[in-house]
Amino acid sequence: MNTAPHALKTLNTFGVEAWAQSLHTLHKPEAIAPLLDQHGAPDLLLGGGSNVLLVQQSFQQVWLNRLMGRTVLARDTRTVRIRLQAGEPWDAAVAWCLAQGAFGLENLSLIPGCCGAAPIQNIGAYGVEIAQFIHRVEAMDLNSGAVHHLAANECDFAYRHSIFRSPEGKRWLILAIELNLSATFQPTLDYPGLRQLDDQNAAAELTAQQIRQAVIALRRSKLPDPSLLGNAGSFFKNPIVASTQLEQLLSAYPQLPHWPHEQGAKLSAAWLIQHCGLKGYRQGDAAVHANHALILVNHGMASGAELWQLAQNIQSTVHQKTGVRLEPEPQILH
Ligand code: EPU
Repeated sequence: MNTAPHALKTLNTFGVEAWAQSLHTLHKPEAIAPLLDQHGAPDLLLGGGSNVLLVQQSFQQVWLNRLMGRTVLARDTRTVRIRLQAGEPWDAAVAWCLAQGAFGLENLSLIPGCCGAAPIQNIGAYGVEIAQFIHRVEAMDLNSGAVHHLAANECDFAYRHSIFRSPEGKRWLILAIELNLSATFQPTLDYPGLRQLDDQNAAAELTAQQIRQAVIALRRSKLPDPSLLGNAGSFFKNPIVASTQLEQLLSAYPQLPHWPHEQGAKLSAAWLIQHCGLKGYRQGDAAVHANHALILVNHGMASGAELWQLAQNIQSTVHQKTGVRLEPEPQILH
């Protein structure tokens, strides 16, 4: 039997070195239960590998989700119900939904990764989150092999959070997502970088395709392309603080960007990191991106452990200087 380990470097967008003793690619849902019976649950599930930091370098069994398929399930005058299999690349699925006349995902254009990962961290950008559109998530319980449908209200969605990120949620393997999209286009232009579209176009003339192109241009101008420079998007969540802490912070830092949140306020983690002098900071090949302080990048040979060390240094510097605790956004695998 060939026991040479499988390299995971090209299967995670940070591009860090790690290996799997066995690597199974999931192409068909019906092949999963027999795999589970034969080998047990995997110790790592990968989709696009764009929201993980592999600190650990050696994994026993890794499954790669490549379940493909996109379907329009139903349509009426208001809603288009869409089913996307978990292994479908996200951005191509967004483009496909628009081509079907199913609107709502345009602000989420160009987010890296696969459709199955979208509910896990409740992907969000430019004023929109996937939770707004989830009808239900089809997932296999890896403890039993049974397939369940979790309705949106069972998924515990919050800012960059869902049940799938909680310790008990780790047992789910997402097979497909079903979305309720809109049959009519209504733009969401709350984000400052998109507001100008409102001014330039009479609202009636603006198309979803124009928003998609504007979002793609914004992302390309701000965020490094993982195929050119290893990264996993925002490395920290924007922290949520109580109103009393916000007041203290604003008296020390009147410029700190913040947004209303039901528990107080959401702060800009990028601003805090930049304020601590860490934008562009580099430890070997692990660095804070020079153009966006929320993004950690791998300049080539950084290991997962080196990137994690840098992240911990950032957390402790920001905490010592400002009292704010930053939480990682990607899943950290120790
Ligand atoms: N800012 C700085 N320094 C920087 C970068 C930004 O001070 O180096 C300030 C900006 O001036 C702005 C504020 O931070 O006032 C917010 O910046 P930006 O609009 O770039 O958004 P973000 O808070 O850094 C979040 C999401 C992104 C999403 C954008 C747009 C999180 C953790 N990140 O970033 O999502 O694309 O808003 O909606 O919520 C991701 O999750 O991977 C991701 C890229």
